[in-house]
This record gives sequence, C-alpha cells and structure tokens, in this order.
Amino acid sequence: MSDGKVITLNELRAHKSKDSFYILLHGKVYDVTKFIDEHPGGDEVILAEGGQDATEAFEDVGHSDEARALLPAMLIGEFEKDSGIQLKSGAAAAQASRVAGAVEQGSNAMYILPLAFLGAYFAWRYYSTGSV
Ligand code: HEM
Repeated sequence: MSDGKVITLNELRAHKSKDSFYILLHGKVYDVTKFIDEHPGGDEVILAEGGQDATEAFEDVGHSDEARALLPAMLIGEFEKDSGIQLKSGAAAAQASRVAGAVEQGSNAMYILPLAFLGAYFAWRYYSTGSV
C-alpha cells in the first residue's frame, strides 16, 4: 500500500465528531471533516455513519463518479482487517468459516467411518470363525 497507514476500529470510533470525522468505505478510511458541510446530501447522513462501515449507505444512494472522485483526496489509510467490525465482506467471511467448519465436521465423520467398518469386520470374523 502506498499510503501505508492502518486505521483501527478504535481510531475510527474516536473520530466521529464534527471537529474530526472519519468515514469507512470499502475497507478504506477517509477524513471527511472538511467535507461534511459541503456534502450535497447534507451533514446528518454522513454524521450518522460515524464509527461504522458506511459502505452500504454510500452505495444505496448511488453516488456519481464525481462523488467518488472526491474520495482519494480525503483518503488517510486502510481499515484494520481483523478489528471485529461486521463489514459486508465480513459477513461473507463468517459464512465461509461456517462452511469450513461444516466441511471439517464432515471429514471427521469420514475418518470414523473406516474404523467403524474395520470394527464391524473383526466382529463379523470373530463371530463367524470363533477366533480373531
Ligand atoms: C465521503 C463520502 C461521501 C462523498 C464524497 C459524498 C459525495 C456526494 C456528492 C458529490 C453528492 C451529489 C450527488 C452525486 O454526485 O452523487 C452526494 C449526494 C448524496 N449523498 Fe453523499 N457523499 C458521501 C457520503 C455519503 C453518505 C455516507 C451518505 C449516507 C447516506 C450520503 C448520502 C447522500 C445523499 C442522500 C445524497 C443525495 C442528495 C440529493 O440528491 O439531494 N453520502 N454525495
């Protein structure tokens, strides 16, 4: 990353007053302090997104390319990835780990199955021949 700076969830949450305001969009953090008063959609909608992932709200509006072009100048860093915030992509990751867990459980069962057959085989041999 060229900017390098990583913003933590705590930092994001520490900047949600009109004196200093950060916004999280698509995993990147922007300092929009000076922009809030100029926002064509009003200050309140932005202020409502403090300390959390504003991506969905931003995309729901269908912001223009001109609006997106304002972002790079306000970029201050990347959002810390494992900060525990429920990002949209985070929900997908949680889903993926649930699937992985299910697969793991499945493979545990696959491991038990041959042993069960082996046990059954010896039991059968024991009963049919009278010796192991
Ligand atoms: C730093 C982030 C943001 C930038 C740079 C930005 C920029 C802009 C710009 C330039 C417009 C004019 C229309 C357009 O060009 O699309 C606009 C409109 C609007 N924005 Fe944002 N915006 C940001 C964040 C947000 C957020 C988080 C919300 C939350 C809901 C929001 C809600 C709106 C609304 C509702 C309008 C429509 C205003 C209208 O048509 O009357 N914006 N924004």
